[in-house]
Amino acid sequence: MDEVRRYNIERWDALVEANALFTRPLLNLDMESARERIDRDGRLGDVRGKDVLLLASGGGQQSAAFALLGANVTVVDLSNKQLERDAQVAAHYGVEMRLVQADMRDLSALDAAAYDLVYQPYSLNFVPDATVVFAQVSRVLRRGGMYYFMCANPFASGLTEASWNGEGYLLKEPYQQGQQIVYTDSDWVYDRSKYPDARPIQGPQEFRQTLSTLLNGLMERGFVPVHMKEIMADAADATAEPGTWEHFTAIVPPWFAFWTVLG
Ligand SMILES: C[S@@+](CC[C@H](N)C(=O)[O-])C[C@H]1O[C@@H](n2cnc3c(N)ncnc32)[C@H](O)[C@@H]1O
Repeated sequence: MDEVRRYNIERWDALVEANALFTRPLLNLDMESARERIDRDGRLGDVRGKDVLLLASGGGQQSAAFALLGANVTVVDLSNKQLERDAQVAAHYGVEMRLVQADMRDLSALDAAAYDLVYQPYSLNFVPDATVVFAQVSRVLRRGGMYYFMCANPFASGLTEASWNGEGYLLKEPYQQGQQIVYTDSDWVYDRSKYPDARPIQGPQEFRQTLSTLLNGLMERGFVPVHMKEIMADAADATAEPGTWEHFTAIVPPWFAFWTVLG
């Protein structure tokens, strides 16, 4: 097992134990909140009856929303504990879903051209080379199908509210494809005081995906970008105290989102 895979399995299993934000299953969704959860921008269209792959998307959030909206859901994730959350939401809502423990860099467990939509929440930066994932997605997606993903803003990878130096948020890491970025989880990721027994969880180990790697990697695999968006957190507030999460995310968008279609 390679180090990237081992690290992420250990980290995500531990985050589930700590009930971290991304591991809490959504058990109170209705049709409206389900749609809001996965398609705030209204770009996915009707997903009823569509074959949808939720890539590196365990935890019982996106799976619950898509299943409630009538999609045929497959979830791929490295962490079996995250997938247990998806099993929990499937039982809760009385829906079927296929759960596959696999690495996003190897989707050989899935048939070719089997999906109408591949939907990948924040996770692409957990692997050194996004283009390896794009190659896998291009195999399992049907032509004309959509690939949506969210990733780190390439120019802000590794910056957090803790990067405040009194005047601004200090960039320190080289702008290089695959540059490893190690940082500490923000306080909102999991409540350390509420889970005093949770064993210490090592912070994210991520890899910068440069903008040219993302765009050229997509186009070389036949994906046509149809929309993109800078994503700030809902809490963004430029008047907040500098050095807080609220201020940081108003100054620089932490994430980008891309909607692409396989030509
Ligand atoms: C931030 S979570 C995203 C999904 C979550 N449902 C959410 O809403 O935030 C990232 C997920 O990526 C998974 N992951 C990390 N590395 C992976 C890899 N190489 N292949 C597949 N899944 C991976 C983690 O186990 C975790 O469930």
